[in-house]
This record gives sequence, structure tokens and C-alpha cells, in this order.
Amino acid sequence: MRVLMVGDVVGKPGRHAVSAILPTVRKDLNIDLAVVQGENVAAGFGLTLDTVRELMDAGADVITTGNHVWDRKEFLPHLDNEDLPVIRPMNYPRTVPGRGYIDLGKIVVVNLIGRVFIGEADSPFNAIDQFLATNVAVGRPIVVDFHAEATSEKQAMGWYLDGRVAAVVGTHTHVATADPRILPKGTAYISDLGMVGAIDSVIGMEVEDALFRFLHNMPRHLRVASGRSRFNSVLLDIDESGVPTSIERVDRETKA
Ligand SMILES: [Fe+2]
Ligand SMILES: [Fe+2]
Repeated sequence: MRVLMVGDVVGKPGRHAVSAILPTVRKDLNIDLAVVQGENVAAGFGLTLDTVRELMDAGADVITTGNHVWDRKEFLPHLDNEDLPVIRPMNYPRTVPGRGYIDLGKIVVVNLIGRVFIGEADSPFNAIDQFLATNVAVGRPIVVDFHAEATSEKQAMGWYLDGRVAAVVGTHTHVATADPRILPKGTAYISDLGMVGAIDSVIGMEVEDALFRFLHNMPRHLRVASGRSRFNSVLLDIDESGVPTSIERVDRETKA
């Protein structure tokens, strides 16, 4: 099974890049399943039904999220719609809407969020332990989107889950890392997929807005940047027995 994991899609340029590039990549690389990080798909903050559908029309089979999942209040009821393949981090309190994993039969996708420099959540380590103890996914490969800021926390999770899940891929920083590898006990790992968004930006947002905040320590709304986009993703090859045989970067850019 060939699984493409796509980094955080940021706003309209990100959606356009997914529409322009994902169908071709799916075909060229014989992708069976595309998992897309959608927490920034609606103007950089959260998700809407329309923007989720845009990702699905472009070929996203599953949409994972992160700390920005709550940004659009109108989307929250849709998190409980089982027909929408959108999941949110598993390690939030039980009282929040949505679900932390999706079972696609041949594979199970789990979403977790970190706790270092990103906000409050229950322990992602305990949450995945509890999930694995349920045996819900037994016999099938499990792919984990670990949405976290600190590469140390992400590497620690990779080691914690080595040999227990098929893959741990990091998201959230919007900056792609060059460390894809198969860990000693067989789990595919990368610290961060990167993003799908404007190249001339600060993690997908207007340079001017981001700089203003850093220079003056005053709040300013971050507008989504425009221009040419990059498309960051990772291809996982998982064999018949559910064991990953390779993990490699698949990075593209839009023409204009
Ligand atoms: Fe993000
Ligand atoms: Fe995030």
C-alpha cells in the first residue's frame, strides 16, 4: 500500500496547490491513500465544510488536524459527522467533538497532538497506549499524525511507538525536515512533513504581518501569503504484512 502524507495546507494558495499537484502525484506514484493535514485550510485558521470538500475533490481520503481545529465554530458540529473523513487529535478531553482516529479497513489513521510550546492537552503517550490496548486496529497498519512543535517531542514519540505502529509523521511547524527513516524496530518516521502553502511567507502567512508581531510585540492578524506554493509530502510504502518498507519525501512546487 502506498500512502501519501501531505503537510499542513495553508489557505487558498495551499488549496490551489493541492488541487494542482495532488491528482498528478497520486497517479504518477500509484498512491492508494492520501492523508492531508487540514488544520489551516480555511484562510490559515481552521476548517470549513467547503474547504474540506475542496481537499476531498482534489483526492484527500483522510484529513487530519491539530491545534487550529477549533478556530471555526461553524465547523465543530461536522467533526461528529462520520461521513466526513476528518479527525482531530485523540488526546483532548473526552467532552470535545470529533474522533481521534479513522478506521479505513486496510489501515487506521490516528491523530495526536504534542504538549511542548503548543498548548494544553492530555498526554499523547498515554492516549496512544490506551488506544493500542483496545485492539481496535489489531492486525492493520496504524499511521500516526503527531501534530507538535518540538522536534524533541516528536522524536521521542517516534521511539516510543517504534515497532508498535507503522508510521509516525510530524506536522504543525510547516517546515519540512530532512530526517525520514525507518527506525530499528520497523516504524517509519519523520519529524515534520512541511506544508502546502506560499513559498514567500513565514510558515504560509504574510511576511509583513509576521514580522510586525516579532518586531513590535503587538498583536496583528496574520493574512495568508500569496504567490507560488510548495507542496510538501512524504510517501510511505507499506507491504502486505503491514510493515513499512520505505519513507521518502515527495516535494513539488506550483508553476505560478
Ligand atoms: Fe499548521
Ligand atoms: Fe498546528
